[in-house]
Amino acid sequence: MKTHMGIQDYKPIPRNLLAVLAIALLFTACASEQLEEIIEKSEEETMTIEEPVQPTAPAVALPGLPDDVAGYTQWLKLNAEPIPPVPGGDPHNGTKNVYVNQTRDTIAPNGTQQFPYPDGSIVVKDAIRPGKDYIGLIAIMRKKAGTDPDHNDWEFIEYVRNAADAEFSVIAQDRICWGCHARVEDIDYVFTELD
Ligand code: HEC
Repeated sequence: MKTHMGIQDYKPIPRNLLAVLAIALLFTACASEQLEEIIEKSEEETMTIEEPVQPTAPAVALPGLPDDVAGYTQWLKLNAEPIPPVPGGDPHNGTKNVYVNQTRDTIAPNGTQQFPYPDGSIVVKDAIRPGKDYIGLIAIMRKKAGTDPDHNDWEFIEYVRNAADAEFSVIAQDRICWGCHARVEDIDYVFTELD
């Protein structure tokens, strides 16, 4: 039926619109059984789109972060789905997204990702701590030719904050980071591959 299809096709239905639609449907010729089915389906869909909120960084750098990562959420996102917290000990605790200031064509010219990353690459990971609704952690890898040839010339640095309106401050950098990231030296020290 036409109305039925319409509701199923339209994915991100706001709740209040759903309510209005449901009431409108009540007064149409739809059999009540079908109606219940439709409402149930829509409710299921509403539930499934309730992902953890992923706030978008503004075009200006978040407070305390360097200018070269301003607007990083507009960059190429390596992961297709948010990376969930790792139970029992997560090196970067939270729900994460990883971005790079490169295009898909540059890093995956034939559809398959090529390594190493070009000089000048910046990889930014943001994380929302479990139970929070703002970005509380930013980890950055910057590739600068000549700075650290032993570790593929990546500079590592990580920032944290404890409130949505607080400034980020540096929590750790370099040695502690590459010690662990060296596990994926074969893919240029970056764990997250392009989806
Ligand atoms: C104990 C291991 C460990 C340590 C220490 C560590 N990382 Fe990571 N890091 C990971 C793992 C695993 C991932 C991929 C999964 C994820 O995103 O949490 C990752 C992801 C990242 C990413 C996103 C790109 C990628 O590699 O997937 C950045 C950027 C990053 N880390 C920076 C840092 C910085 C900066 C430090 C030091 C302050 C650091 N890391 C320390 C394990 C570690």
